[in-house]
Amino acid sequence: MTTEPTKPWKILFVCLGNICRSPAAEGIMKKYIEAEELSDRIWVDSAGTCNYHTGQLADPRMLKAAHRRGYDLTSRARTITNRDLRDFHLIVAMDSENFRQVHLLTSDAASHVKLLSDFLNEDWPKNVPDPYYGGDEGFDFVIDMIEQACPKILDTYRKA
Ligand code: 4NP
Repeated sequence: MTTEPTKPWKILFVCLGNICRSPAAEGIMKKYIEAEELSDRIWVDSAGTCNYHTGQLADPRMLKAAHRRGYDLTSRARTITNRDLRDFHLIVAMDSENFRQVHLLTSDAASHVKLLSDFLNEDWPKNVPDPYYGGDEGFDFVIDMIEQACPKILDTYRKA
């Protein structure tokens, strides 16, 4: 069983429902962290800005797309809280609406809240497209974006 170490650096990925984009980011990031042997230094979680899917596993289409690339997604959906703004060192929103919603949770400056695309070059869209109402290719594209961003997110940890 993985237990949370006492003083880890904490990353939270945020999307709307916490069943497609952010659980994928959580599962993919964990694999990159394991590969770099940083599991005892970095803690990863994900959350949604809405509570429609609380307690659910990731959407079956995302589970399948992730599994095809070798990622196991095990998280259950939860809603982001005000406390998360204080607890996490880096909060990565999947799109600008999630980014806006996260900022509404606090009146403090929140320079540790970023967009996933802040870790990508300009060839990628600013927002991770919501795949929920689309076809299978949308889920693969989400994974493409996240895989590109993960090494850059680890660079941020190394510079912190
Ligand atoms: P996510 O995708 O924000 O990437 O988890 C969605 C999941 C559910 C809904 C919308 C987007 N929904 O409307 O229920």
